Amino acid sequence: MQYKGKNILLGITGGIAAYKTPDLVRKLIAKGAEVRVVVTDSAKEFVSPLALQAVSGNPVSDNLLDKDAEAAMGHIELAKWADQLLIAPATANFMAKLTYGLADDLLSTLCLATAAPITIAPAMNQQMWLAPATQDNLAVLQKRNVRFLGPAQGEQACGDVGPGRMLEPQDIADLVLPDLPQLLFGRKVLITAGPTREDIDPVRYITNHSSGKMGYALAQAAQQLGAEVTLVSGPVNIPKPNKVKTLNISSAEQMHETVMQNVMHSDIFIGCAAVADYKPLNRTSQKIKKSDQELTLTFIKNPDILSDVAHLDNPPFTLGFAAETQNVKEYALSKLQRKKLNMIAANDVSDDKIGFNSEQNALTVFWPEGEQKLEIADKSILAIQLMKLLALRYKENKND
Ligand code: PMT
Repeated sequence: MQYKGKNILLGITGGIAAYKTPDLVRKLIAKGAEVRVVVTDSAKEFVSPLALQAVSGNPVSDNLLDKDAEAAMGHIELAKWADQLLIAPATANFMAKLTYGLADDLLSTLCLATAAPITIAPAMNQQMWLAPATQDNLAVLQKRNVRFLGPAQGEQACGDVGPGRMLEPQDIADLVLPDLPQLLFGRKVLITAGPTREDIDPVRYITNHSSGKMGYALAQAAQQLGAEVTLVSGPVNIPKPNKVKTLNISSAEQMHETVMQNVMHSDIFIGCAAVADYKPLNRTSQKIKKSDQELTLTFIKNPDILSDVAHLDNPPFTLGFAAETQNVKEYALSKLQRKKLNMIAANDVSDDKIGFNSEQNALTVFWPEGEQKLEIADKSILAIQLMKLLALRYKENKND
């Protein structure tokens, strides 16, 4: 009964995933929450208010101008009643309404009238999710501290495959109230994320496919577990995590320098960035002109940030990543030893559904005395699981 005494106001908008919401209500109630439901007009095309009333044990609200409903529990009272406003599924249209502060129906009015935190589980076609307008709205809402759960990646009702599926009811129910144990309270965590860019000349560079999503999710998870988090990020195109100090860099050299400047004050270091192992020996000051049939570039090694941190005289507790396409366990264990790490999280990046630039990942985490598999999941979910495991290992390590 983790949510005992908590009032969750569930707003349902008009997407096909609305058919899963009676199950979501039951899962929230199973965790001890009191649930009231508000539906938009289009949501009623996908789920029956009667079913929602039956499972929630409360009347379902759908109309701002209903005098009987207002007499029973007015919309301002409902907004004040909520400890948490959860919108699942949230359509692209509803995200846009929320971004612009429209209040033309009961649910959008409640979003303005409530002081409760708002959590959104988006669900829409993958192209609609990736559309610049939706991504801009996402960035604005995240800046206003609206929390997003998902969307998950996968096959969609329309037949498309991509990001846009609503998270499963169990995952939403598990994550909606972020009353995560403050396992890292008072700890300072430094995390690297994203790719680095190594300049060849003023217009060209080499880089890799890292989107920053895994590292950003870890930064958010560490913050939710109570840590003070600094994120050193390569060039990415995703919104900054909430309440996380983010330092932007471009090259591996810059990432190395920024990490070394900040690591002294850190209890924990996580190297999730895909740092370029090599950089061009010479960055030419002028654009290289097209001439011969072949062009040869010479590369030299970049500093190994993770290894340098772990080899400090008084190193923080250090978690590295291993992105491998074969012999995953063998290579990960050799990195754990060679780089003197406390833990390493290995992902098999030969599978293009996980790892680089995908919404999901799967990890096997190794430490000197053990290992644990974290099955394929949305990166935000996996990040919480990994940070909890790290917090446990960190504590045991301190007690050694
Ligand atoms: O960003 P996403 O799109 O979400 O993708 C996530 C990810 C696949 C990038 C992430 O899960 C991951 O695996 N990150 C590490 C990628 C990598 O560079 O792995 P590696 O096996 O080459 O490096 C091993 C470790 O050494 C890593 O912790 C890396 O950050 C670190 N390293 C590597 C080279 C270097 N010069 N300095 C380093 O610190």
